[in-house]
Amino acid sequence: MKNVKHLTLGIETSCDETAVSVVADGREILSNIISSQISIHTEFGGVVPEIASRRHLENINDVIDAALREADVTLDEIDLIGVTYGPGLVGALLIGVAAAKAIAFACDIPLVGVNHMHGHIAANYLEHHELEPPFMALVVSGGHTNIVNVPDYNKCDKLGGTRDDAAGEAFDKVARVIGLGYPGGPKIDRAAKNGNRDAIEFKRVYLEPGSYDFSFSGLKTQALNYLNTEKQAGREINVNDVAASFQEAVVEVIADKAVHAAKEFGQKRIVMAGGVASNTRLRELISEKASAAGIEVLRPSPVLCTDNGAMIASAAYYAYRAGERSGYDLDAVPALEF
Ligand code: KG4
Ligand code: ZN
Repeated sequence: MKNVKHLTLGIETSCDETAVSVVADGREILSNIISSQISIHTEFGGVVPEIASRRHLENINDVIDAALREADVTLDEIDLIGVTYGPGLVGALLIGVAAAKAIAFACDIPLVGVNHMHGHIAANYLEHHELEPPFMALVVSGGHTNIVNVPDYNKCDKLGGTRDDAAGEAFDKVARVIGLGYPGGPKIDRAAKNGNRDAIEFKRVYLEPGSYDFSFSGLKTQALNYLNTEKQAGREINVNDVAASFQEAVVEVIADKAVHAAKEFGQKRIVMAGGVASNTRLRELISEKASAAGIEVLRPSPVLCTDNGAMIASAAYYAYRAGERSGYDLDAVPALEF
C-alpha cells in the first residue's frame, strides 16, 4: 500500500560523509545512513578532496540502498529527492547531485537542490518537532560560522559570518598544532574538560562594534607563539590548559554575538546547528547567557549536528512546499552563499 506520508530521500555528499536518509513529512527520520570517511582522511590530517570524491562514488549506491532498506520503502514510494548542491568540495558535491538527478529522471520524482547551510538549520526540525520559525540560527561548522535570522521556513537572512577561518577550522588547526590530531573539535572539547580555561589569555576578537562577523585565524598564530615561547623557556606544555583556554576564546565570542543578535532582532529562540554546535562548553555558555536574557536555546543531538542526509531531506521538504523545484540542469555550486 502506498505510504500516505510524504517521503523525502535526502542525499548529502558535500565533504567527507556519504549520507542518505528517508524523512517523512519533513520531520520524522525513517532512516539516516552515514558512511564516514574520517578514518581515511585522518592519515593525511584533513580531508583530501580527490580521495573524498572517489569514496563518495564508490559508496553512494550502497548508501542509498541501505537508507531505503532501513526505512522499508522502495523508490516508487519516494515523493521527493533533496540533494546538497553547495557549498562544499566540487568533486564531492557532484557525486550526490549526479546520483539525485539520475534517480529523479529514471523514476520521475521531483528534485530540489538544497543549500547545505539551510540543511544544518533544518536538522532542528527533526529534533524538535514543535519548532517553527521565526528564530535566530547559529551555524558553526568546519567551513562556516554564521549568525542567521530565520523569519520563515524558506527564508534565511545572514547577519554575519567569518572573515577568515570558520570556528571548526580553528579547532582543527589548533588541535594539530598542540598535537591532538584530526578531527580537532571533539578532541579539544574532551581535553578542555581537564584543563584550566584561564591558564592562557587568548584574544577575544569582536571586530567593530555591532558586527556579527568573526575572525579566528589569529588564534592559530597565538597558539604557535605560546608553544614556542614555552619551549624556549624550557617549560612543559599543558595540552589540556591550552585546549581549554583556546576553546573559551572561541566560544565566548560566538555565544556573545548570537545572544546579542537574538536580542536585537527580538527573537526568543536561538537554534544551534553544525558540527561545532555539539561542543560542550559552547552549549553551556550560550545557554547561560541566553537564559539571563530570557532566550531559549535549542540544538540537535550530536548525530544531527554533523553532516547527514536527514537534514537535507527536511530542508528539501520545506523548500518544495514553498514551491521550489530544480531541473536536470542542477549543478554543484562549491561557493554557494547562504
Ligand atoms: O558540520 P560539520 O560536520 O561539517 C561541515 O559542514 O563543516 O562540522 C565539522 C566540524 C569540524 O571542524 C569538527 O572539528 C567540528 O565540527 N566539531 C567540533 C566538535 N565536534 C565537531 N568542534 C568543537 N567541539 C566539538 N565537540
Ligand atoms: Zn556541514
